[in-house]
Amino acid sequence: MTNVVVIGSQWGDEGKGKIVDWLSERADIVVRFQGGHNAGHTLVIGEKVFKLSLLPSGVVRPGKLGVIGNGVVIDPWALVEEMERIRADGVSIDPASLVIAENAALILPVHRSLDRAREAARGDGKIGTTGRGIGPAYEDKVGRRAVRVCDLADPAMLRQRVADLLVHHNALLKGLGDEPVSAEQLVADLEEIAPKILPYAGVVWQVLDEARRAGKRILYEGAQGVMLDVDHGTYPFVTSSHTVPGQGASGSGSGPKSIGYVLGITKAYTTRVGSGPFPTEQDNEVGRLLGERGREFGTVTGRARRCGWFDAVLVRQAMRVGGVDGIALTKLDVLDGLDEIKIGIGYEIDGRRYDHLPASQALQARAEPIYETMAGWKESTYGARRWADLPATAIKYIRRIEELIDTPVALLSTSPEREDTIRVRDPFEG
Ligand code: GDP
Ligand code: IMO
Ligand code: MG
Repeated sequence: MTNVVVIGSQWGDEGKGKIVDWLSERADIVVRFQGGHNAGHTLVIGEKVFKLSLLPSGVVRPGKLGVIGNGVVIDPWALVEEMERIRADGVSIDPASLVIAENAALILPVHRSLDRAREAARGDGKIGTTGRGIGPAYEDKVGRRAVRVCDLADPAMLRQRVADLLVHHNALLKGLGDEPVSAEQLVADLEEIAPKILPYAGVVWQVLDEARRAGKRILYEGAQGVMLDVDHGTYPFVTSSHTVPGQGASGSGSGPKSIGYVLGITKAYTTRVGSGPFPTEQDNEVGRLLGERGREFGTVTGRARRCGWFDAVLVRQAMRVGGVDGIALTKLDVLDGLDEIKIGIGYEIDGRRYDHLPASQALQARAEPIYETMAGWKESTYGARRWADLPATAIKYIRRIEELIDTPVALLSTSPEREDTIRVRDPFEG
């Protein structure tokens, strides 16, 4: 038995929440290791729908430990709001079921303002961020001036940290012609929220180390997707964290060998929210159909997601970069009833063929997809729970994807509902 890391292999919203929830039945601990409340993970359990942003998707199952690792940026007000919202749905969250890394960096109101001000200033060149302050918070972390969870427990340290941070931010705000932030007010606000966060603060690396030694099973839950990774994604149209499996280790204080199986969550077509290149995008009837049938509206911002055909080049790249062992193929049902289905199998850029997406923003913008066309199927796959219930043409499509991305399907998801999941191979068995 081994520990599993779940990551998105496209531009996010592949269905990570659903799969993590399903897998967490057999895990003891679920760990978030990067991103923040830019993530929106949807769980559908019977009549109940949970939308989680910061809480690990294991929290809804009694008896599981949820962990928010050091690699996550935490907006304490958003976290408290989410805990209250999820509690109102009947889930119990207490310090026995949730641990937050004492060394995680905080997202402050000034980060959110800066994120939004920058986006507004970029105009047409905007990244289309979620406006949650994610980028500015990671900048301050790497700039060594972040306020961290542990600082909330030490009033003198908190004052010092806030003062250091505001030297930077107030200079920026002055340059933008905005009012400076009051250190007194920010400290007061943080002191007010601190008692709601501190009971959960803990030494996450130690908790995980002890759990491993005791033979507990750990599930690492990624946010976003490989193509939004700050290095490996479609830079600068990316998020500000590493979304690759290796981050599961560094974002929680676990050694690289503590993760034995990498599961890449992969949508049977492609979507993207926000700006940036999207070679197989279908800004037409096909795209509208996929968006409507797949209910492709952002969980966090409600924005309509851009939709297009499956891009095998992009996903193969994500498989290689992430060292993915197997995929969970999701939303196959959304393709039901299409006469034909296209798959992107290469790009043409300036008359030259590419079998990968080059790093240059200019080249990415000019990438024209080369397609292969497959027959669709008329039957419904919605809610299928056995491989034998799938139409032969749908199986052919799945086999072709496996071949093109050179990675096997471990799980297949056929509806938003938790139990509509087919297991081909058990990720926990390595
Ligand atoms: P995440 O960010 O990767 O967790 O994905 P989101 O929750 O943001 O978006 C995925 C959406 O697709 C959610 O509304 C899910 O309920 C839904 N979903 C997940 N798997 C399937 C599936 O196999 N079929 C269908 N039709 N919907 C699915
Ligand atoms: P989950 O975990 C899809 C996108 C934003 C924007 C870019 C940068 O639900 O898959 P940010 O606010 O992070 O600075 O925005 O990244 N983005 C996501 N897109 N799913 C997500 O998370 C995303 N988190 C960020 O739309 O293009
Ligand atoms: Mg999402």
